[in-house]
Amino acid sequence: GAALTQAGETVIHPTGSHVSAVDRTRSHGHKGAVFWLTGLSGAGKSTVARSAESQLFAQGLNVSVLDGDTLRAGLCKDLGFSEADRTENVRRAAEVARILQDAGQVVLVALISPLQSDRLLAKQIIGEGFQEVFVDADLSVCEQRDPKGLYAAARQGKIANFTGIDAPYEAPHAPALHLKTSANNVDSATNSLADFVKGFVRFA
Ligand code: PPS
Repeated sequence: GAALTQAGETVIHPTGSHVSAVDRTRSHGHKGAVFWLTGLSGAGKSTVARSAESQLFAQGLNVSVLDGDTLRAGLCKDLGFSEADRTENVRRAAEVARILQDAGQVVLVALISPLQSDRLLAKQIIGEGFQEVFVDADLSVCEQRDPKGLYAAARQGKIANFTGIDAPYEAPHAPALHLKTSANNVDSATNSLADFVKGFVRFA
């Protein structure tokens, strides 16, 4: 709980779990980890995360997805797309992912998370279980897909700070997994991700 010191500062007393990570791993058949999918809007992060989630769930894994659009409808409702707001968006997603990981889940995070420094922050929050996955499609391909019409709006100046147009995207230098999604290959990207996940969490 929280209390006030005589000086008036808030002090908190986090309590530790009595259930060990080893117990959880034994019970679930795999450890918890966070697979952080970064890439441009329209690169296929959500699509690949959702189909990998279905595949892994069907194979008995305890798995869930944290998706940018979903988080922004609730937990991150108050945030926009300035650099500071994206940093806060990434930070909150990382804190939630960490809680789920510590509860033993496989977490697939799908966030543009365009800055190296923000992804490093996520890695620091999450720890060893953080695995960076680059969902890599050329900007021209994403712009052609334009499933939500956002690239067109950005080109017309109706949306400011759009990633890849007038806001930066910094590609990962050494992602743990690199999925190329310019061609229409959702199935192979899904299989690659699912295989990578199972290998990392050591699921038979
Ligand atoms: S971030 O950068 O990680 O905080 O972004 P994220 O939370 O993943 O949200 C990305 C989705 O928001 C929509 N959108 C925008 N994206 C980028 N730049 C701007 N300015 C913007 N405005 C709205 C867009 O639908 C993104 O969805 P995805 O699924 O990535 O296409």
